[in-house]
Amino acid sequence: MNAFPPLQERALAALSAAMPADLLLTEGEALERYSRDWSGEHYGRPLAVARPRSADELSRLMAFCHEQKIHVVPQGGLTGLVGAAVPSYPGGEVVVSFERMNKVRSVNPIDFAMVVEAGCILEDAKRHAEAADCILPITFGAQGTCRIGGNVSTNAGGFNVLRYGMTRDLVLGLEVVLADGRIWNGLRTLRKDNRGYDLKQLFIGSEGTLGIITAVALKVFPKPEQVETALVGLASVDDAMQLYARARRQCSDLLTAFELILRGGIEIAIDARDDLPDPLSKAYPVYVLIEASAAGRVDLRALLEGFLGDAADLVLDGVIASSKAQGDRLWLLREMMVEAQGRGGRYLRTDVSVSISSLAAFVSDTLNALSQKHPEAIAVTYGHVGDGNIHLNIVPPAGMPVDQFDSLFHAAEEVIFDIVDKHGGSISAEHGIGRVKQEAFLKRADPLTLELSRRIKDAFDPRHLLSEGRILASADGMAEG
Ligand code: LAC
Ligand code: ZN
Repeated sequence: MNAFPPLQERALAALSAAMPADLLLTEGEALERYSRDWSGEHYGRPLAVARPRSADELSRLMAFCHEQKIHVVPQGGLTGLVGAAVPSYPGGEVVVSFERMNKVRSVNPIDFAMVVEAGCILEDAKRHAEAADCILPITFGAQGTCRIGGNVSTNAGGFNVLRYGMTRDLVLGLEVVLADGRIWNGLRTLRKDNRGYDLKQLFIGSEGTLGIITAVALKVFPKPEQVETALVGLASVDDAMQLYARARRQCSDLLTAFELILRGGIEIAIDARDDLPDPLSKAYPVYVLIEASAAGRVDLRALLEGFLGDAADLVLDGVIASSKAQGDRLWLLREMMVEAQGRGGRYLRTDVSVSISSLAAFVSDTLNALSQKHPEAIAVTYGHVGDGNIHLNIVPPAGMPVDQFDSLFHAAEEVIFDIVDKHGGSISAEHGIGRVKQEAFLKRADPLTLELSRRIKDAFDPRHLLSEGRILASADGMAEG
């Protein structure tokens, strides 16, 4: 059944013998659900799946794997989009799954901090924070499935970054099992701690290549008593960005989301569901979904109404939700658009950022270049433009033979990344590098960044056994499986 070389088979047999009987899954069928991620584009069978119940149990497993030179890859909720968590090392990898380490350990509304195990589902953590009248602000579509350890390992972004920052900005402390099995204990909730190097920062966003996060201390915030949601129609991305600049100031910096969606995205969403009508009285080229929230004695509704009333030179039409249910309906457009763009099969997903001040020029330069060079490609453009982050995706035209997708995606990506480079932007704003973005990343990274990155990898994982081949190319040059 298993197609791994005899060396791995022997290592696996030794591992099974050394570990508690119920720690490892090794049977074909049981392994299946650890073999692919949400994107459906990455598949790789684990050598085995370890499901530790504690950092100590993982520590023993890692010490054994280190000694026996067995490759390991940690997995969260498998909602990543760059192929980092699916087994890929050609000789086989043991998956570490966190489904048994999913508890919220504490929420402290005085410290505005909570401590959770790495396998805690984001939505569960958010619910616990709310029960203590707080919020954990990490928010995005996959929150019902993704796990905090994965959020931290990928430095996840999402809708609320413009107010609360990326996941990195919310991490107060970490507990990490190192490649050799030692446990690094940095699980603190201190707000101020300037004792030497801030090692936790190296693990955040390192996609499991430097250590395996087992527990996380996170910042939480006062739960907003008021949340207002509006959808407005505008003539251009340029107008949307002007609106954003004004909104930051005129809404007292209380914005929690400012999501851009071009008309094509709205059409995908309303076509996908009969119960989702066109949200405004007619079609507009550009839409912005605005959310503001506040705790305390602020009349948020009046603030938002006043702001939008004053912006009549930019806002062509709009609706402010009159209830939470109506606000949720507006967010449903955003959610459905993401889900429905993939219904016809594969599509190119990009996740780029430029400075906020050059975002409008970036979008128009890119859409113009794409329509000249690849008029057949359907661009779906949306993003967290309050952070300068755009997802400019390419859906193949109806009827295009599947074997032509790759060359279209590759060519369109080159066009997009080339313009990102011209604007001094990033080819990965929030999804990470993994394997999918590795080539584009390595091509652009300066030699000193790469040299220092390799030395960090060598320091933390001298035998190159952890998530090898993600972010940096694998040290032994082995091709991806
Ligand atoms: C989004 C995720 C996919 O913005 O990044 O919907
Ligand atoms: Zn996004």
